[in-house]
Amino acid sequence: MDITIALRFLGSVLLAVLWCDATFRSGDAAVSSGDLRKIHEVNKMGPYLGIVVPNMFEMNPLLQPGRFVSDPTTPTLDIMGRRFRIGKVGDQKVIIVMTGLSMLNAGVATELLLTLFNVEGIVHYGIAGNANPELQIGDVAIPEYWAHSGLWNWQRYGFGPNDPLALESNGDYTREIGYLRFANYSTPSSDNLLNNVWYQPEEVFPVGGSPEVRQHIFKVPVDSHYLDVAKTVEKDGVILARCATPSNCLPREPVVATVEMGVSGSVFVDNKAYGEFLNGEFNATAIDMESAAVALVCYQQKVPFIAIRALSDLAGGGSALSNEAEAFAPLAAANAVLVLVQFVAALASSS
Ligand SMILES: *[C@@H]1O[C@H](CO)[C@@H](O)[C@H](O)[C@H]1NC(C)=O
Ligand SMILES: *[C@@H]1O[C@H](CO)[C@@H](O)[C@H](O)[C@H]1NC(C)=O
Repeated sequence: MDITIALRFLGSVLLAVLWCDATFRSGDAAVSSGDLRKIHEVNKMGPYLGIVVPNMFEMNPLLQPGRFVSDPTTPTLDIMGRRFRIGKVGDQKVIIVMTGLSMLNAGVATELLLTLFNVEGIVHYGIAGNANPELQIGDVAIPEYWAHSGLWNWQRYGFGPNDPLALESNGDYTREIGYLRFANYSTPSSDNLLNNVWYQPEEVFPVGGSPEVRQHIFKVPVDSHYLDVAKTVEKDGVILARCATPSNCLPREPVVATVEMGVSGSVFVDNKAYGEFLNGEFNATAIDMESAAVALVCYQQKVPFIAIRALSDLAGGGSALSNEAEAFAPLAAANAVLVLVQFVAALASSS
């Protein structure tokens, strides 16, 4: 045996060993080999537009007849505790996934969707609190940027804006974005042991960057082409629901509005002072619990992203009696879907 034949022989033995090992172990992986085969079949029919939605009550209006049509061969795939719904919205092939509440769920579901499926872009939609006094409940906001407003460095009592934060000097934390001073909200005292929380950018590891070398981002932009399409939807208008019940109608017809900012965090905001702070500090319109997580995953995977959030309440700024979402969440969820369907059609005809 000369050396090349010996090497080739060794190579094929190695390949066989690796192949057996992979086949043998695939049954043990989080996604079974049977599911991987089904995913492969679904992907052959792609690419798809990914639709990511937080909760069932926001997804249901989309599943109604005439809006979403399930794929006749593979209507759903259940993988790792998530259901992926395959089908069409209008002529656009889509895969819908429900995330569940808040940032971790939203990030995990989005990453799974992008990792497993042939997805060329993501549209996220749902309801949100409103911090923008120029908009009303029922309006549908499409922000240009999303920021995670729940990543904080909580400063020790006695320290202030001129004191470095813990671990600031090695670049872990920053004072560049801004902070919330709890004592500004004291009634009547003017100081507070909770001191300051400083808003922090997320550490990100984008595709094409150096693995393990962090970058930072706070305001994550949506895709510029998707935003242009959203502006045409805003300009053309969408007929939206105005009345939660025959006797409970909004002051004017709801509108679609592209706005500057949305913020998300793992906190349900039903607090007027904090809503006003988020609007004053970051120009936030929509306040929710998922969009920035979806944005951050798409940003790192370099996949186009936009979020459509219908305003269901005033984040604590309205009635003193209760959060308006109790009355207006179904109307807002319905309006979000009306705009989503319009957006998907406009996007499909724009390319
Ligand atoms: C706190 O209130 C003071 C006085 O109104 C204001 O100048 C300052 O900007 C506020 N700081 C923060 C972080 O909200
Ligand atoms: C704040 O956002 C609104 C739209 O949501 C925009 O019209 C306005 O220019 C923004 N203000 C600043 C200071 O960026």
